[in-house]
Amino acid sequence: MSNFILEISYLLGSISFILGLKMLSHPETARKGNLLAAAGMAIAILATIFFHENEAGEPIGNLIWIFAAIGVGTFAGYLMAMKVKMTAMPQMVSLFNGMGGACAAIISIVEYTSHPSHDIGFLAIAFLGLMIGSVSFSGSMVAYGKLDGKINDWRSNAVRMFNNVLLAGILALIGVGVFSPDMIGEPIVWILLVVSLIYGILFVMPIGGADMPVVISLLNSFTGVAAALGGFLYDNAVMLTGGILVGSAGTILTVLMCQAMNRPLLSVIFGSFGGGGAAGTGEGGEQVVKTISVTDAAILCAYAKRVAIVPGYGLAVAQAQHTCHDFERMLGEKGVEVTYAIHPVAGRMPGHMNVLLAEADVPYPKLLEMEEVNPQLPSTDVVIVVGANDVVNPAAETDPSSPIYGMPIIQVDKAKNVIVMKRSMGKGYAGIANSLFFKDKTRMLFGDAKDTLGKLVSELKQM
Ligand code: TAP
Repeated sequence: MSNFILEISYLLGSISFILGLKMLSHPETARKGNLLAAAGMAIAILATIFFHENEAGEPIGNLIWIFAAIGVGTFAGYLMAMKVKMTAMPQMVSLFNGMGGACAAIISIVEYTSHPSHDIGFLAIAFLGLMIGSVSFSGSMVAYGKLDGKINDWRSNAVRMFNNVLLAGILALIGVGVFSPDMIGEPIVWILLVVSLIYGILFVMPIGGADMPVVISLLNSFTGVAAALGGFLYDNAVMLTGGILVGSAGTILTVLMCQAMNRPLLSVIFGSFGGGGAAGTGEGGEQVVKTISVTDAAILCAYAKRVAIVPGYGLAVAQAQHTCHDFERMLGEKGVEVTYAIHPVAGRMPGHMNVLLAEADVPYPKLLEMEEVNPQLPSTDVVIVVGANDVVNPAAETDPSSPIYGMPIIQVDKAKNVIVMKRSMGKGYAGIANSLFFKDKTRMLFGDAKDTLGKLVSELKQM
């Protein structure tokens, strides 16, 4: 009977993951999808705790320890989720992703050390799970530090080459462990753990410039694959389903990010990534920028036929999404056709701009993808860049020495007028100058995005 309840609960959990993931694909249903998948996870966890029995028919036991650990984890997770600022969400996602990898690695260690076996399948799964989980953990911690500005890039061809040798060494070690299990014996898990952790750190350290999005989604898929391997080890259907879903969703996202960044996936994994490592300086030099007043900007927009807004990370920092929606609505009321041009890596996490704008109830059809918007730009009267920088930097198309060279951009300089809204001449994530700011048709509107958009709304009201 216990087994029947357990299997039914796992089935319910798996169905909830699949439906939840499907619902996550649209902003209107995403919140419910998240709750549904979380409920499925809760059912699977509780069913395991209360109905799982070992081969001798004994229940799981250790309930006090288990619930104490769940309590501590829930409390810490709740505090972190409540306290995190919206702008720090990408870091938190990285941190949680790393925790998933660590769990998968620990599962492998525990299973290997508590059930010594010479079964090739078991050993291969345990070692691969340990390696992938550890890489995902340490890599995600470095990604967390980088997104948080605590860790700088460490680019060197020597590191990249060392990484590739290290990876080959790790795979060889796994080969030895699987096919000659007695050669090294139990210490192999600890050696594998340490070298995989080192590989994870060195794998993410050299990735810089505008290339982090690909790595973040890749680490995501690693965690999913590691969890799926854990599901194999435990012969646990719900863990397997969850892991496969995360792994495949992460892999699809990685491929999409590679396409968006115009980078081949193999060069992400084996190096030669992020251009030649030279930080392009742009063509800014000593040139001066032209500024525009709020009143003139409002007039320019109000009398335009077509306006495109390009949101970037600064929109998230300023939490200007609601004011931006007000601005776009007021222009719409004045007969201006307004759209949002969404770059796939704008912000700091996949879909960052979509999430922000959905939170402000911006209608989804107004959000146009980069490929859709670029051909429309020559007939667009005004482009307003709100806190975006790298994703509109022409160096990506013109400067082969730039770390973002090759990344497709929103070609705002094709529009008739460009207004750039930001606080200063500060650089974007890639840390490079932007020649767009010095172009003839560009006008800078300095200030915090929320403040400035608020002032624009007031101006429009008075017109
Ligand atoms: P960025 O290039 O990072 O530029 C953001 C700009 O916003 C900055 O230049 C900053 O200039 C401005 N800003 C900051 N706070 C502001 C405020 N309160 N009001 C107005 N402006 C403000 O952003 P982007 O164009 O969105 O590009 C994203 C970058 O992050 C890319 O390089 C991408 O590869 C990288 N990245 C993306 C992801 C994902 S998955 N999306 C993950 C990791 C890294 P001021 O300081 O002068 O205001």
